[in-house]
Amino acid sequence: ISLKPLHSFQLPYYASEVTEITSEAELERLEGDFLVLGEGSNTIFTCDFDRPIVRILLDHIHVEESADYFTLRVGAGVNWHALVSYTLEHTIPGFENLALIPGSVGAAPVQNIGAYGVEVGEYINSVKAWDRQTRRWHTFNRESCEFAYRDSIFKRSAGRYLITEVEFCMPKAWVARLNYGALKELPPNVSAQEIMQAVIAIRNSKLPNPDIIPNAGSFFKNPVIEKLQFLELQERFPAIAHYPVADGKVKLAAGWLIDQLGLKGFRCGGAAVHAQQALVLVNQNQAKGEDVLQLAGTIQARVAEVFGVNLEAEVRLMDSKGLMDL
Ligand code: EPU
Repeated sequence: ISLKPLHSFQLPYYASEVTEITSEAELERLEGDFLVLGEGSNTIFTCDFDRPIVRILLDHIHVEESADYFTLRVGAGVNWHALVSYTLEHTIPGFENLALIPGSVGAAPVQNIGAYGVEVGEYINSVKAWDRQTRRWHTFNRESCEFAYRDSIFKRSAGRYLITEVEFCMPKAWVARLNYGALKELPPNVSAQEIMQAVIAIRNSKLPNPDIIPNAGSFFKNPVIEKLQFLELQERFPAIAHYPVADGKVKLAAGWLIDQLGLKGFRCGGAAVHAQQALVLVNQNQAKGEDVLQLAGTIQARVAEVFGVNLEAEVRLMDSKGLMDL
């Protein structure tokens, strides 16, 4: 079975078995070892894949309304942007900054998707998952999801929990979140719909559409470094893009670091650094797995050499057995 249409980076590899699940009962009956794949927008298969693949296609959206909140119970297989559009069409604000993020609802909590100053974890009440170890259902409340920057318990215990449903809590007391980048320019009385349109316009101007230029969004995480190291870097590079984070640490923009090295458009075989956003690697021209790994390795080495900063993969890179380190 071709993996090309099953992951947005579209490398030309194959898997032996792909099973689609449309009910929780079917999931309980699954035996043996397998990889769960959502829409494949954050996974890159760098060679043929030896393990069976399972896709969870539950696609319900249930909405309940109370005096102060909307509560949404959503199947893991719903497309994330379809949910964002659905909520805003039904005048349920909150997800507007997260418009157009590729992927499924079930994958959203795994890496706590985020954009323009908002992370999905803030709106998650609970996550329902099948625990493969105990073979029982478990509902995680927000705290036990252990959300952090592009991280959660689901990501750290890779493969143990299979998410089937996410419950979101959307407060009716809505406040616009305009403190990130270009959103600062919007007037304070802007509507949630207008914010969504602005986010869509920004993303379309910088991020390549995976249907046209195959890619998996940000390839690396933005590195978090100690304050002291940051001050030294800032002395050498006064314009360095950065954001304060918890514990006095500083988050750098990996895209800025890569851009400074003049690597926009840089290619290894068919893989390239996107010309408008240096944090995104693209499948420019029939790339192979080794092209992507070589490109990523070159970027990591150059960034380490010039800035003394270690870049970690944000995407899930797969070899024939499963997750691989970069
Ligand atoms: N920058 C450059 N050159 C570049 C790219 C970025 O100088 O080629 C600078 C920008 O000017 C800006 C800073 O770096 O000052 C940050 O850039 P941007 O706002 O584009 O965001 P990012 O840090 O590169 C993160 C997320 C994106 C998310 C945006 C917006 C990560 C790993 N990535 O990117 O998420 O859309 O912020 O919130 O946190 C993804 O995870 O796949 C993803 C696309």
